[in-house]
Amino acid sequence: MTARRVSKKPAPGTAKQIGKAQVPADARSADPIDAAAFKFAMRKVPSPVAVITTVSAGRRYGLTATAICTATADPPTILVSINRAAAACPVIEETGIFAVNFLTEDQSEIARLFTPTKRGADVLQDDARFHRGDWTQAPQGAPVLRGAVCGFDCTLVQIIANGTHNLFLGEVTNATATSESGLLYRDRLFRRLATE
Ligand SMILES: Cc1cc2nc3c(=O)[nH]c(=O)nc-3n(C[C@H](O)[C@H](O)[C@H](O)COP(=O)(O)O)c2cc1C
Repeated sequence: MTARRVSKKPAPGTAKQIGKAQVPADARSADPIDAAAFKFAMRKVPSPVAVITTVSAGRRYGLTATAICTATADPPTILVSINRAAAACPVIEETGIFAVNFLTEDQSEIARLFTPTKRGADVLQDDARFHRGDWTQAPQGAPVLRGAVCGFDCTLVQIIANGTHNLFLGEVTNATATSESGLLYRDRLFRRLATE
């Protein structure tokens, strides 16, 4: 399996080919806002919370993530955005497999485990993060959380490097779903879904 890498930013004012689409040459006439203003606004958007996992030589890796969406339904493809500083990032590049496990509203502790802070009591890395939760293996080997809202086993088909992150496009080779309610994240807090 070979993932296709689309390399870095186009020079301002130049067109860039991504797949079959063409970015207009004059698309960069305005400067981007600063990262702090962007994050401040984006914090207002509630997001489902997942743990993205992968495995290499029997060692499991995972991180909590919200930058995940459907890319296309045909073919079934998920887009995840992962900071290149995250331990799982080069492993996904190397192995070409990952799984996306969307957490239930009762699994916020697992979300915290997979995004350790220096201030936290438990700063666990890689495989040690999997001590909590009922983890099993997807057919391709990536860790899958039993009891998650839904889970997607993915094969990497394309990598787009943008700024600090890699956008990974993964074709879905297996999916599971339950009727559990999903965990949300908004304004730096984990939250539950309310119904009207
Ligand atoms: C709610 C939440 C959402 C996050 N979403 C992402 C994300 O989408 N992509 C990402 O690269 N990091 C995201 N992070 C940060 C990673 O979980 C964190 O940097 C993690 O520690 C990286 O893994 P590492 O410690 O193995 O390097 C998020 C953190 C939180 C708390």
